[in-house]
Amino acid sequence: MRKKISIIGGGFVGATAAHWCAVKELGDIVLVDVLEGMPQGKALDLLQAGPVEGYDLNILGSNSYEDTAGSDIVVVTAGLPRKPGMTREDLVQTNGNIVRQVMENVTKHSPDAIVILVTNPLDTMVYLAKKVSGMPRERIIGQAGILDSARMRAFIAMELNVSVENTHAFVLGGHGDEMVPLPRYSTVAGIPITELLPADRIAAIVERTRKGGGEIVALLKQGSAFFAPSASTVQMVEAIIKDRKQILPCCVHLDGEYGLHDICFGVPVKLGSSGVEQIMEITLTDEEREAMQRSAALIRSSMAALEM
Ligand code: APR
Repeated sequence: MRKKISIIGGGFVGATAAHWCAVKELGDIVLVDVLEGMPQGKALDLLQAGPVEGYDLNILGSNSYEDTAGSDIVVVTAGLPRKPGMTREDLVQTNGNIVRQVMENVTKHSPDAIVILVTNPLDTMVYLAKKVSGMPRERIIGQAGILDSARMRAFIAMELNVSVENTHAFVLGGHGDEMVPLPRYSTVAGIPITELLPADRIAAIVERTRKGGGEIVALLKQGSAFFAPSASTVQMVEAIIKDRKQILPCCVHLDGEYGLHDICFGVPVKLGSSGVEQIMEITLTDEEREAMQRSAALIRSSMAALEM
C-alpha cells in the first residue's frame, strides 16, 4: 500500500514539495491550505502531469484536515515567508499562531504521523509543535540543516569547480544568522575543505551560507526561497519512507546532547522509518562549541517571545 503524505500549506514551498514527492513516487499526496480552490487547483494540475511524468498517485487538494486522516508523514509549510529586511525571527508571532492551529488538527487526525516542520522561525516552530502535539521527539523534526548544508555545498562546488556530488557539508545549530557551518567536517571527495581552500575563501563561503536565505529574499523581493527548501524537505520524507537510515542535519528536541537542554536545534541525526532513530554527537572544538551556544541563545530569545 502506498504511504500517505499530507502537506499543510500549498504555497511555494508546499506545492514544490508536492511536486518532488510526486516525481519520486513517494506516496499519495494531500495538499491542504486555508485558501479555497488553490490547493484543489494545484493538486489537479500536479495529477495531470502524472501521465507525462509516469507516476500513478492519488493527489488531492483540500481545505479540510479530514482528508489528511491517517497520514504517515505530515509536512508543515503553512505560514508567512519573510520580506526583504526581515529576519526569520520577525515571523514568530504570526507563524506561531498558524503552527499552533495546524498542529492541533494534525494531532487530531494523524496522531501517529511523523511531522516535518518547515515554517520559520524553524527551531522555535519545532519546539512549539512538539509542545502543542505532545508527540515524542522522534516524530517532530525540523528541516533546515539540509538546506543550509546544500547551500554551502553549492558554494564549495562553485569555488572549486567540482561536481556538487563530490561535496559534503555540515551546517549545524539554529536556522538563523547564527547557524554553525563546520568547515572541518565539510569535504570534497573526502578531503576537508580546510586543506583545499585558504582561510579567507572559507570565511567567504561560511558568510554566504549564513546569509543564503536572505540573499534570495532580497533578489525575489516577494516571498522566500522554495526550490532548495522543498527539495531538502523531500529528502527527509524519502529517508523516512524508504527507511534509509540516512545521516542528515535536522532540527530535533535536545535533552542534554551537545550540552543543550530543552531546545530544538540542528544536529546530525539518523533518519529512518521511525523518524529520528539516533542523534549523532560529533566532537567539536571549543570555538565550534561556543558557536553552538551563541546559536542556541538566539533561539532561546525567539522562544521567549512566544507564550508556550
Ligand atoms: N493552514 C494552512 N495553510 C495556511 C495557514 C493555515 N492556518 N495559514 C497560511 N497558510 C498558507 C497560505 O495560504 C499560503 O498558501 O501557507 C501558505 C504559505 O505559502 P507561501 O506564502 O507561498 O510561503 P512559502 O514560500 O511556501 O513559505 C512557507 O516555509 O520556508 C518557510 O519561511 C518560510 O515560513 C515560511 C514557510
